[in-house]
Amino acid sequence: MTTKNKSEKDYSIYFQPPSLSDAKKRGKEDIQVHYDFDIPEEMREIGKDKYYLIQTYGCQMNEHDTETIKGLLEQMGYRSTDDRKQADIILLNTCAVRENAEDKVFGELGHLKHLKIEKPSLILGVCGCMSQEESVVNRILKKHPFVDLIFGTHNIHRLPFLLKEAMFSKEMVIEVWSKEGDIIENLPKKREGIKAWVNIMYGCDKFCTYCIVPYTRGKERSRLPQDVIAEVRDLARQGFKEIMLLGQNVNAYGKDFDDMKYGLGDLMDEVRKIDIPRVRFTTSHPRDFDDHLIEVLAKKGNLMEHIHLPVQSGSNEILKRMSRKYTREHYLELVAKIKKAIPDVVLTTDIIVGFPGETDEQFEETISLVQEVGYDSAFTFIYSPREGTPAAGMEDNVPYEVKRDRLIRLNDVLNVYAKQSNERLKGQTLEVLVEGESKNNAAVLAGRSRTNKLVHFEGPKELVGRFVQVKITETPTFYIKGELVGEAVAQ
Ligand code: SAH
Ligand code: SF4
Ligand code: F3S
Repeated sequence: MTTKNKSEKDYSIYFQPPSLSDAKKRGKEDIQVHYDFDIPEEMREIGKDKYYLIQTYGCQMNEHDTETIKGLLEQMGYRSTDDRKQADIILLNTCAVRENAEDKVFGELGHLKHLKIEKPSLILGVCGCMSQEESVVNRILKKHPFVDLIFGTHNIHRLPFLLKEAMFSKEMVIEVWSKEGDIIENLPKKREGIKAWVNIMYGCDKFCTYCIVPYTRGKERSRLPQDVIAEVRDLARQGFKEIMLLGQNVNAYGKDFDDMKYGLGDLMDEVRKIDIPRVRFTTSHPRDFDDHLIEVLAKKGNLMEHIHLPVQSGSNEILKRMSRKYTREHYLELVAKIKKAIPDVVLTTDIIVGFPGETDEQFEETISLVQEVGYDSAFTFIYSPREGTPAAGMEDNVPYEVKRDRLIRLNDVLNVYAKQSNERLKGQTLEVLVEGESKNNAAVLAGRSRTNKLVHFEGPKELVGRFVQVKITETPTFYIKGELVGEAVAQ
């Protein structure tokens, strides 16, 4: 496939392209946990006086992986830059969830070619979920041969070796594991600001028929509770104000522990006792959301009353064909239980329109479900076929215009509820964690309420990173405005 001039034996370890069909397999072997990662001696100075730039696409899992990659690069002596011309390494940490996410990356590679011509020593790398797809790797080999390095989501810890190889070899270095590897606990992470992400598990075994994630992220593997708790404690000690526990399907946390019965509810109950002001988690799958978790979340304190609960569709027929493994009725029952236990809970969701074969009636069932739940906001998507997934083999028979019209109508309905829920906050005083200056006006500060509403108010910059009380005065759809009442003591 390539014109390697080294011996086959030499490069074979660095030419390991992905295979989606291998990625689909779920093996029984135990996942080992390692605590002994270290950067090899000879690579610790390799980045001295050099700069890196990473462009990240996709979900929070990817953002957090970028923090690990930055941590590794900085331990090798590299420093970060925003200036592409200054960069000695540029990495694109990519997302494969929809076609438009992939198109952006291919567009970007086109632009980066010029930089590479100007500065041949530049190392250009592609990592993240797109790297896990063989069609992507083949396309890069064919159309973007100037790329130096491709690695996947399971072998980030191999970066020091791969980078060294990419620097000294004239060939494209490709190492993508289609089978998830072990859990490596002590990788360095470069975190910034007042909020921190913490992985509680990796991978996804749900195989929703439209979704590429189980193929790009491997099987479900939970981190041990003591490792998660130790990390959260450490972040609290470092002064972080909020943590977000991460997984593709956090409600499956602990299902892979053979020797103990321990789930997300148990973990949240322990994290609740740690002295960190705010704790959130994402993403929930309705199927595994159990009563114990609801009971624990109802204790509130540092557990925020916001749950992101993707529904995808309100039609049982579509849910079945998506293989979501719950019904509309089950979902609504779960919502009712949550609302009963946590009356001021804010629910948000993800919805796909135009799944293969979705009729007008089935789409209307999604609209009626949205009205019944009354979400505060939602991420809405037009269905995008992903090669290798079961849905890609179904007839994609909803015309693009119909999909687009459904998306517009859905967003209009969602906006009505978003506005109503914001209006209910008028006159109330909310606890806000101040995150920074507002993007458009430096005199205005921006922060988040417990329910994750974006709140704007006027105040001095010194308040960034602190908790304040804000009385809500105005409620546009996408954020709310208020007046500073005073500082708050976070619970
Ligand atoms: N693990 C999370 C998030 C997965 S990806 C979950 O299960 O909810 C985030 C969202 O992207 C999904 O919830 C879904 O709404 C959307 N999505 C995934 N695959 C898609 C596809 N092929 N086309 C359009 N939207 C998709
Ligand atoms: Fe994709 Fe479904 Fe897994 Fe979410 S639960 S990552 S939508 S397969
Ligand atoms: Fe995208 Fe991978 Fe996340 S496909 S949504 S970056 S898990």
